[in-house]
Amino acid sequence: MNWDDAAAESAERLVGPAADREDQAVEAALRPRDLGEFIGQERVRQQLDLVLRAARARGGTADHVLLSGAPGLGKTTLSMIIAAEMGVPIRITSGPAIQHAGDLAAILSSLTEGEVLFLDELHRMSRPAEEMLYMAMEDFRVDVVVGKGPGATAIPLELPPFTLVGATTRAGLLPPPLRDRFGFTGHMEFYAPAELERVIHRSAGLLDVTIDTAGAAEIAGRSRGTPRIANRLLRRVRDYAQVRADGVVTREVAAKALEVYEVDGRGLDRLDRAVLQALLKLFGGGPVGLSTLAVAVGEERETVEEVAEPFLVREGLLARTPRGRVATPAAWAHLGLVPPQGTAGAGTSGDGSGQSGLFDS
Ligand SMILES: Nc1ncnc2c1ncn2[C@@H]1O[C@H](COP(=O)(O)OP(=O)(O)OP(=O)(O)O)[C@@H](O)[C@H]1O
Ligand SMILES: [Mg+2]
Repeated sequence: MNWDDAAAESAERLVGPAADREDQAVEAALRPRDLGEFIGQERVRQQLDLVLRAARARGGTADHVLLSGAPGLGKTTLSMIIAAEMGVPIRITSGPAIQHAGDLAAILSSLTEGEVLFLDELHRMSRPAEEMLYMAMEDFRVDVVVGKGPGATAIPLELPPFTLVGATTRAGLLPPPLRDRFGFTGHMEFYAPAELERVIHRSAGLLDVTIDTAGAAEIAGRSRGTPRIANRLLRRVRDYAQVRADGVVTREVAAKALEVYEVDGRGLDRLDRAVLQALLKLFGGGPVGLSTLAVAVGEERETVEEVAEPFLVREGLLARTPRGRVATPAAWAHLGLVPPQGTAGAGTSGDGSGQSGLFDS
């Protein structure tokens, strides 16, 4: 299983970061439309605001923008906001959709002046397309190859100035020449609970859900720093409130609803807890090898490594060490277990803040 399969698998979880079918259907309605409506990401927002204001003042086209960050943090949303703020249309495509350089040439040559080209999953674009993109970004020109073999000729084609907005969950995988051609790079961080509360209140307003402050806080705390997950949990809590309560989301209703869906107070789901439980109960907190741990929970090695572990590491509940996986003292505390004498945590500490910003471990 590769990373994308893992992502697809995680989309089926209530706390998976990738968009599932329902997310895709409702996200359009929940997306903030301009920078003022966009919650959190203070630094990226301010910097982007300057870039766009300056471009508007010059009456020109904004510099190319690269947005990197974990799934569900708002990259697609920001790309649409960039187009809206510039008052230009947006063309949306993605790396995997561009098989051949010719596909890219067709898109580039049909852009109108100033248009935003949003290229999602930039790290998954083919090599030849990537090379065509270099020239297009720098010189607003592409060479279209006509014919095959020795008789092939390259016809240079002028492009109108455009703004490329590239998005990637894995900035580290981008070749440096591509990364360097962006005038501005925004690194999206996980959201603080208070920011997620604002996201939840805003979405509740749009979805016509009555929610109080404590109810929003309860959902925010379980949303793993990710607006997409916050919105998804809100929808499930709304369902519960409609069926089992009087439709109003309070702390109690939110907590009970998410208990039904097995999302605990910290946003861990059944798989996450199974991994932790095996690590603590069967292996005394580790160190234990990944494969052994995976067998113990009856999952694929990749599922444990790519679906469960990143969040557990980010939350300071689990550490990856050269000798194997180790539970931190915070893990024992979270599951309400007492570590055996002298083994707890093996020197690792978990502060449990959950906002370390490390998603790509
Ligand atoms: N700053 C924000 N304020 C309010 N809502 C947000 C914010 N960021 C994201 N969202 C919500 O989260 C949803 C997911 O965001 P988006 O689709 O932009 O994420 P993404 O980074 O493109 O994810 P992926 O990597 O999976 O493509 C959006 O529909 C939007 O409703
Ligand atoms: Mg996206």
